[in-house]
Amino acid sequence: MMQKNYFKLEEPFKLSRIAYVNGNYLDFKKSLIHIEDRGYQFADGVYEVFNVSDSKLVDYDLHLKRLFRSMGELKIKSPIAKNTYIYHVKNIIKKNIIINGLIYLQITRGVAPRDHKFPVNQKSSIVITGRHLPADEYEIKFKEGIKVTTHDDLRWGRCDIKTVSLLPNVLAKQDAYIKGASEAWLINKEGHITEGCASNAWILRKDNTLISHPSNNSILTGITRTSFLKGLRKHSIKFKELKFKIKDVRNAKEAFVTSATQHVTPVIKVDKIKIGNGKPGKFASIFRDVYMEALQLK
Ligand code: PDD
Repeated sequence: MMQKNYFKLEEPFKLSRIAYVNGNYLDFKKSLIHIEDRGYQFADGVYEVFNVSDSKLVDYDLHLKRLFRSMGELKIKSPIAKNTYIYHVKNIIKKNIIINGLIYLQITRGVAPRDHKFPVNQKSSIVITGRHLPADEYEIKFKEGIKVTTHDDLRWGRCDIKTVSLLPNVLAKQDAYIKGASEAWLINKEGHITEGCASNAWILRKDNTLISHPSNNSILTGITRTSFLKGLRKHSIKFKELKFKIKDVRNAKEAFVTSATQHVTPVIKVDKIKIGNGKPGKFASIFRDVYMEALQLK
């Protein structure tokens, strides 16, 4: 029953028709990947999600830098020259007429007979797709705020790499969805909230200091987080990279998630804990504006 509603909710998210797949622009339905692609067999790959706003890319340079860092950490060779990514990404925006939406870019170690150890000079695989988002999608979530559940952080020790190996995130997100929430905050063995399944987690303390988990191997350093921080510094808004626990959430004035898909979105509930008066607080629009001013369009 719930599953049905979920897909109904997804109906406006029409997948685009043209994908870039290993050098070719192909009809979405004809875009195929080899069954021995290591992305398929081992989740041996990395990805980026870019937001598209008014047909422009949000923080493209930062995303590309992180993509190359992820590939470097996993010793995956870039399938194309660094300066040609922008050409293909822009082509996907144009060919699919995306005004507001997302670009998904995935690189895997490529095709090889199944074997855990990998060939070193492997030609990697690349796929770029795009999808439209309804223009009011963010506004609605921003106005209403979102509910978050919590889940054990079952991930590996290199969450700083944006790998497609996302099974713990997938399971936690599904658990959140079943419980009527849109994100799950992940709690590690020490009881610290590291981040969300697909977003960074923030709380605003009663002393008006924003808190988010330090940027280290336990989280993905979000590009939205990076730009938001730039904006916070510009406006001298108090911010600390600090580990926080559920008891801190209980005492928080406001809470937020940040990601390329959600920008800065207020959180109104974490499990049974109501944040503030259960509605987005007065800092939500300030923080959103700070972020929107700080991001770079290309
Ligand atoms: N997820 N943490 C995790 C685990 C994420 O997957 C993401 C993004 C973020 C925020 O990163 P950014 O601000 O660069 O989007 C943090 C993307 C959107 C996804 O997997 O769909």
